[in-house]
Amino acid sequence: MKEKAVSIKDILSKEITGQIVVVKGWVRTFRNNQFVALSDGSTIHTLQVVVDFENTPTDLLKKITTGAAIGAKGLLVESMGKGQSVELKATDLVVYGEADPEKYPLQPKKHSLEFLREIAHLRFRTNTFGAIFRVRHQLSFAIHRFFHEHGFYYLHTPIVTASDAEGAGEMFRVTTLDLEKLPVAESGGIDFKQDFFERETNLTVSGQLEAELGALALGKVYTFGPTFRAENSNTSRHLAEFWMIEPEVAFADLSDNMDLAEAMLQYVIKDTLVQCKDDLSFLSNRLAQEEKSKPQNERSEMTLIERLEFIVNNTFERLTYTEAIDILRNSKPNKKKKFSYLIDEWGVDLQSEHERYLVEKHFKKPVILTDYPKKIKAFYMRLNEDNNTVGAMDILFPGIGEIVGGSQREERLDVLQKRMQEMHIPENELYWYLDTRRFGTCPHAGFGLGFERLVLFVTGMSNIRDVIAFPRTPGSANF
Ligand code: 4AD
Ligand code: MG
Repeated sequence: MKEKAVSIKDILSKEITGQIVVVKGWVRTFRNNQFVALSDGSTIHTLQVVVDFENTPTDLLKKITTGAAIGAKGLLVESMGKGQSVELKATDLVVYGEADPEKYPLQPKKHSLEFLREIAHLRFRTNTFGAIFRVRHQLSFAIHRFFHEHGFYYLHTPIVTASDAEGAGEMFRVTTLDLEKLPVAESGGIDFKQDFFERETNLTVSGQLEAELGALALGKVYTFGPTFRAENSNTSRHLAEFWMIEPEVAFADLSDNMDLAEAMLQYVIKDTLVQCKDDLSFLSNRLAQEEKSKPQNERSEMTLIERLEFIVNNTFERLTYTEAIDILRNSKPNKKKKFSYLIDEWGVDLQSEHERYLVEKHFKKPVILTDYPKKIKAFYMRLNEDNNTVGAMDILFPGIGEIVGGSQREERLDVLQKRMQEMHIPENELYWYLDTRRFGTCPHAGFGLGFERLVLFVTGMSNIRDVIAFPRTPGSANF
């Protein structure tokens, strides 16, 4: 079929009738040798294609099975059937690719998310994953638009790097050395001089340090790229490869940073509510179905759409780490020893159970925690007057916990050098970073938004492996 296809989204949203058009897509179901529910990926909805079975050869009809790729040409007419406004009366049909029903794994019934993860190469073809990936697209587009409209420049920071931006040592090595025959240096260790870059390199954990260099000349920049962490966290919120958005702003402090993050999150969620109405209402219903299987007291009070609207219409609660520790220490689950990690002293790192308590039970809205103990945060965060806390901010979301991590940066050369010494970070490896503090330093701030955590929140899914096409997690890198 040579003619260009019209998208099903266009046909249904414009309710086009009286025209002869071509559509191309995949068969979802074929009823009574007559009614094809056709999906082309442009929308969650299918178009009903009515086959003239009396004039269609039987061997062609046999090939129209769930999963087959077909093209159909015919007149669009008002539909008498329930559930659709228009349908296509096919006069021409081609089958591009058959899908043997004996072997095709996706039958028109409900499959578990676990099963679909095993066939991630085919799961795009389900309603749920079609919706998720259209929403994911819209979110990333909205993020770019937000920054573009606010005068930011999109900076592409390197993926292969020699530095560990977070100082957490959770990096994947990049090398071309023969692992069976590693060259030995005179000093005894591996001779990285013989490696591709003549030094040790790894996949980046964050583009922040390079983004700071850009911000101190371009004013406002952001990165949006893949980041890699070899942390052995097999949770529903961690990936070994994830995408991160990192804006960095010159002449900005922690409070500006919080304002920016809050405005950005509200902007992109609002945009998705408008642009992805059908997909979100599908996902909202999906979640409501899922909630029904939970005990009454664990069910969410709000639907997915209500939750998203709530974020858009309410300001985030801002408080310090110290205030949060007080709340947690006196909380019911802490007193009744319900937390896995009990809170007794100031200085401990917060676990996701604590973050979620603050957001879901105590404040019942997104929370921004600031001014964490310097001991549990990265070297680049600005030291506060008290010498004990740093100008950090984490944004906590319901059902997710930490979605954003950021800070005002330490712009004072001497203070930064001292912090690096304390944390055993060699100065010579980051001389270029320190140079920005030597020449024309200024207050500046930025943050990192975990893109998959945002998609997780907006789609109402519960496992991060379901919002990225091909998840990389400990022990798994299929496809
Ligand atoms: O808090 P993190 O580690 O901060 C940074 O990397 C800073 N350099 C950001 C900055 O200030 N420019 O990571 C930022 C966010 C987290 O809040 C979380 O949403 C996400 O990245 N994230 C992960 N998402 C999925 N899987 C993982 N393993 C993640 N680790 C962090
Ligand atoms: Mg963090």
